[in-house]
Amino acid sequence: MTSPPGGPRPFACLWCGRTWQPRASDDLEAHARLCPDCLGRAGENPFVRFRLRAALEARATPTAGSVPTQPAPPTHEEELVPYYEARAGEYDDWYLRRGRYAHGPVQDLAWQMELDTATTWVDALPLGGEIVELAAGTGWWSALLATKGELHAYDAASAPLDRARDRLLAHRLRAHLHVRDAWAAPDRAVDALFTGFWLSHVPRPRLAEFLAISRAWLRPGGTFALIDSLLDPASGTRDRAEPSAPDLALRRLVDGRTFTIPKVFYEPGELAAAIGAAGFGDVTVATTGRFFLLASGRAWPAE
Ligand SMILES: C[S@@+](CC[C@H](N)C(=O)[O-])C[C@H]1O[C@@H](n2cnc3c(N)ncnc32)[C@H](O)[C@@H]1O
Repeated sequence: MTSPPGGPRPFACLWCGRTWQPRASDDLEAHARLCPDCLGRAGENPFVRFRLRAALEARATPTAGSVPTQPAPPTHEEELVPYYEARAGEYDDWYLRRGRYAHGPVQDLAWQMELDTATTWVDALPLGGEIVELAAGTGWWSALLATKGELHAYDAASAPLDRARDRLLAHRLRAHLHVRDAWAAPDRAVDALFTGFWLSHVPRPRLAEFLAISRAWLRPGGTFALIDSLLDPASGTRDRAEPSAPDLALRRLVDGRTFTIPKVFYEPGELAAAIGAAGFGDVTVATTGRFFLLASGRAWPAE
């Protein structure tokens, strides 16, 4: 697609990935970097709503004397939701060591053994009552969590949640599944909070903020637990590429689309200190060896 001479350049829609040629640089589509079809979904999609609001604000407040030219590129955090929407159909390949995630029998056996250890750890956590799972994705952990109490599984992307729903139905389990931003303030206090492979998407400057939100979700004495990634070359795809800077990951989908997203490998010691500073006691941070980080704490003060 070519742009009119002197006109705005085409962009890839942040939501569906299709290339769109805005008519003028001041178009709402150009400000939001969303195609008109996706912009039309603002009523049902929190990410689109967020981009629309930001685009309206940006369009209403041009810098004095400046002529808007190019839409602002999305931040790495803003790439997370479109990336996981697009990856939903291939996400479980990562757990199952399928396709580009297969690293040969020896590496894959090590992965499977550590995943078993992590699953046993989650199973043994003191979880019960009302449980919230943030950034639940395709529901890999939701099925186990739903056997422990009344589960509310949230994610900012809807495509992974559709898969989580199918998984729960296949296991004849019930849970409340809703699109919800992990950064949104809690609307109640619950007995347990779990999040899998989300903390590594929390940029370092926002770690304390996210842990404060986690603490605010819990009743005193409530359980906080998370599982996340350790840095190991056999964890991701075989064709992984180096990111442009630390604490970022360059991800490629099967269809060739690429996304750069925050990916922070927190060290066990720094994570334990941060969880303790956020108002948790009985903090434990362990690893399964090569692949997984396991952390838990109890909301302080305990009843
Ligand atoms: C690495 S996946 C983890 C999925 C699942 N918890 C698991 O353990 O397999 C990260 C998830 O975070 C979700 N996500 C990204 N940004 C989010 C946000 N701001 N709020 C809630 N979820 C978000 C993505 O849609 C994705 O499902």
